Amino acid sequence: MTVLVLNGPNLGRLGVREPDVYGTATYADLVARCEEVAKESGVEVDVRQTDTESEMIGWLHDAADAGSPVILNAGAWTHTSVAVRDAASQLSAPLVEVHLSNVHARESFRHTSYLSDIAAAVVVGMGLEGYAAAIRFLAVS
Ligand code: DQA
Repeated sequence: MTVLVLNGPNLGRLGVREPDVYGTATYADLVARCEEVAKESGVEVDVRQTDTESEMIGWLHDAADAGSPVILNAGAWTHTSVAVRDAASQLSAPLVEVHLSNVHARESFRHTSYLSDIAAAVVVGMGLEGYAAAIRFLAVS
């Protein structure tokens, strides 16, 4: 089984981006942690990041067609994009929504998610370990 780990806008800048909010781990660290936990859990991972909404929607369509489970950190699109939600709604395998930060402890516009009600699980505020938890969950789902 291959778990797709899809990251949206600005997540490629982890490590330099608002380290007080997101920590000092880089995007390369995120990829390495996902690959490490996937190996321990006996699944494959394909970790991607894009700043382009159409590319994200295309990846979600591909995941829907392949029947792949998805871990999605849609970044700011979480709070704004009906189009990303509509693409994620087409998935047949489980979707896990992940946020590095605790979005509920931040600005009120981050309290709304277009994804949470279509997700099998939501992980917030655990940093990279949120991705690890999501991979372990999908490996036994
Ligand atoms: C984020 C939270 C979002 O509100 C924000 O726009 C991001 C990152 C997180 O991982 O904590 O880009 O998804």
